[in-house]
Amino acid sequence: MLEIQNLGMDYGKFKLSVNQLAFGRGLHVILGANGSGKSSLLKGIIGYGGEKLSSREVYWNDFKAAETASFISYLPQMNPVFKIRVSDYIGLTSRKSDSSRKGELLRYFDIEHLMHQSVESLSGGELKRVQCAQVAMEQKEIMMFDEVEQGLDLKYQHHILNWMKEAGNNRTVIASMHDAALAMTYADSVTLLKDGGVIAGSESPRNITSEMLSECYDIPLDVGRVNNRIIIFTRAL
Ligand SMILES: Nc1ncnc2c1ncn2[C@@H]1O[C@H](COP(=O)(O)OP(=O)(O)OP(=O)(O)O)[C@@H](O)[C@H]1O
Ligand SMILES: [Mg+2]
Repeated sequence: MLEIQNLGMDYGKFKLSVNQLAFGRGLHVILGANGSGKSSLLKGIIGYGGEKLSSREVYWNDFKAAETASFISYLPQMNPVFKIRVSDYIGLTSRKSDSSRKGELLRYFDIEHLMHQSVESLSGGELKRVQCAQVAMEQKEIMMFDEVEQGLDLKYQHHILNWMKEAGNNRTVIASMHDAALAMTYADSVTLLKDGGVIAGSESPRNITSEMLSECYDIPLDVGRVNNRIIIFTRAL
């Protein structure tokens, strides 16, 4: 269980303040408007932020999580790409090389045909799938993704969300997203951020109402549910 007892980020004009938020096994999605603090929250969890990190009491399985690299994989919103072959990049951050697992992941993420290409030359969606494979290779207990659906087409959005949902059966997966309907269809819990604060903390998607989403995004929204899938409409255009 990852417990955020208290996390504060102070950039001057913007302040993030999160208290009493906990994530166990499962897929946990963070939603919020641009600039609401999603990326700051994820950075704060891993302990990044230097002097801007004004407070941080984060626990992993009841131990204070000072160092997080040994149990958290983190895919930032923007990750610099460089000249390296995809086949080398996949295992770059994992402790041990496991070629059968690597082969499995290449097939799963449909990136076998990209092995000899440079990471710099990949399309947006190809890069995201390669980055997900790299994270999967690390096999850490927590996986965190910032704007996970960015760059993925409809097919791969569902593919990756399915993978994350399944991974949530035996680990903790935390993802910030913009596609609220996609997020609420797959997530085990949803956290809504607004102006650096939490307006719904680790709630079941069933409990997320039109009013909560409207407040979160500052626009009148209606949530509909069709066969366990979520659709979200703007009430007035
Ligand atoms: N290092 C920094 N110094 C000053 N302000 C910052 C810094 N990092 C982030 N901010 C500001 O803090 C606010 C929250 O930023 P953050 O990146 O957490 O938002 P976000 O919810 O991830 O937004 P988006 O959906 O656009 O990615 C923004 O107004 C941003 O400009
Ligand atoms: Mg962000």
